[in-house]
Amino acid sequence: MTTDILCNDGNKTILIEEMYLHPPRYGMQHCINVHIKPLTPLLKGNVQVLVIGFGAGWTAAALIEECIKKKCLLELTGLEKNKEVYEQRFKIKPKIESHKYITGEKHDSIKISVTIGDATKMIETLKEFDAIILDGWNELKTPELYSEDFLKKCYDSLTKKGIITINTGSWNVKENAIRAGFKVETLKHGEYESLVGRK
Ligand SMILES: C[S@@+](CC[C@H](N)C(=O)[O-])C[C@H]1O[C@@H](n2cnc3c(N)ncnc32)[C@H](O)[C@@H]1O
Repeated sequence: MTTDILCNDGNKTILIEEMYLHPPRYGMQHCINVHIKPLTPLLKGNVQVLVIGFGAGWTAAALIEECIKKKCLLELTGLEKNKEVYEQRFKIKPKIESHKYITGEKHDSIKISVTIGDATKMIETLKEFDAIILDGWNELKTPELYSEDFLKKCYDSLTKKGIITINTGSWNVKENAIRAGFKVETLKHGEYESLVGRK
């Protein structure tokens, strides 16, 4: 069961599994602050990025937008557990040009592959990435995505200079990421925080 919600930036999101798919207060800007800005220095040449919690592809669209701007070749892999959420990409389209590549349009320098499945089970079957965007629900609803064990699997799936962006500023998650091997920085975005982990 889904309910449509209007975000403050005019984009429409949904309430699903008793959670907002995107924070109505910040909308698209949340994806950009938490995930895209920290990854921007990495977007040169060929980049391989994994999005965990692909959802309706808002974060992926913001990443594609930046890659097209910077003329880099992006190979984007997405993992999404809930097929119904992934289908929402046709319904809740954010006002960002590159979202059309999430719903089927092709671009020469962007390759996208999304798999419906549980990231905790699938991550080890994938190759290495330059960056991982970890965009699960949160530490309470999906603790398995923020555990030391899963973050260690993310660490092992990153190239030597790989980066992970995490949609929480939680101390517990920060400690889990440090124990998993990351050098972790907390980013402040006004009222909320997020984490960036580097190898
Ligand atoms: C905050 S939403 C992500 C929003 C999305 N990144 C976007 O741009 O539209 C969290 C997503 O994580 C997915 N998820 C939760 N547990 C997961 C798991 N174990 N593996 C893969 N996806 C998962 C949920 O179904 C949900 O779509």
